Amino acid sequence: MTAVRATILQADDLTPAIHALRAGDVVAIPTETVYGLAGNAFDVHAVTKIFSVKERPSFDPLIVHVADHLKSAALLEEAGVIDRSAMSPAMIRTFDDLARAFWPGPLTMVVPRHHQIPDLVTSGLDRVGVRMPDHKIAQALLRAVKLPLAAPSANRFGRISPTSASDVMEELGDRINFVIDGGPCDVGVESTVVALDDDRVWLLRPGMISPSKIKEVIGLPVEQTSSKHEKASPGMLASHYAPRKPLFMIEDRQSIPENLRAKTFGALIAGGDEYEALQRFSTMTQAPSEVILLSKSQDSAEAAQKLFAAMRSLDKCGCEIILATPPPSTDGLWLAIGDRLRRAATPLAK
Ligand code: TXA
Ligand code: MG
Repeated sequence: MTAVRATILQADDLTPAIHALRAGDVVAIPTETVYGLAGNAFDVHAVTKIFSVKERPSFDPLIVHVADHLKSAALLEEAGVIDRSAMSPAMIRTFDDLARAFWPGPLTMVVPRHHQIPDLVTSGLDRVGVRMPDHKIAQALLRAVKLPLAAPSANRFGRISPTSASDVMEELGDRINFVIDGGPCDVGVESTVVALDDDRVWLLRPGMISPSKIKEVIGLPVEQTSSKHEKASPGMLASHYAPRKPLFMIEDRQSIPENLRAKTFGALIAGGDEYEALQRFSTMTQAPSEVILLSKSQDSAEAAQKLFAAMRSLDKCGCEIILATPPPSTDGLWLAIGDRLRRAATPLAK
């Protein structure tokens, strides 16, 4: 592994990144959700590099990012990304309706893939995840490179997704050549992922675009993932987005096991009243080393934006474990925040 650090590029100097992407290299790019590690989606070598830099297992498929002039199934077929001939008229209508409503934005749709998309991108599945990011820099790059870009989150496999250029440097700074600095990400949690069927839509990963917003557009309820789709989306591992220190979700003070009570801890308060939340930790023998309240006003957008940076900060503070309270509800973005916290959490011993 080389010790050379990546060059950080600013928005007004994208030329080295454009050349690198065209030449088959990988570049970390900002999006509205989290930073991604991008490479030419048509180039097996570039995609292989994404997997090896991340140490990502090949069974976990990548999302393909597209430019904002490709807002329909017909245009994405022409661009060699999706296969419209394998989609029913109803599926095409749903795809186009959702693209019109939410793109550019944090929604990934999983649909039949074009033969130009290599097997490695989709982990051999016959479907590809497509998304049109809502970020000026990501869009400027996509337009300039004139290629779809495969991009997973720019973290080492299983770690917390990066929401700033310095997070990317911490994760991959010694493994890649370029990181584009687009400032902190607005949304803070990864895109909503849905799989389209002929007559329904399945939620594979919650994000900012909630099931109820999708239902408003297509007039059909969004189905929770069945075991069939869990298999079709092998990347959805239960343990993910994890800090290095064990993180435990604490429902109430009785749920803290004896063996944890003497440990030093940092507190991650996902929502709710701070005083009440801290009461939950009152059986701990020491005061928390650090307390992070994601949103004083219980604003789910603010909480999502701060979530991963908070996990990183608590991972670095001088404590042995992280104790988190669950979000106050499962509405909108709280569903995504609860999902990421549960995936980061170590199960409590019974
Ligand atoms: O917001 C985001 O989606 C970010 C930014 C960079 O765009 N990307 C991201 O990628 O979160 P990643 O690789 O960390 O997560 C992609 C997940 C996969 O783990 C998988 O669960 C699902 O999306 N996915 C992608 N392609 C799929 C496919 N063909 N079938 C089923 N699930 C798929
Ligand atoms: Mg990821």
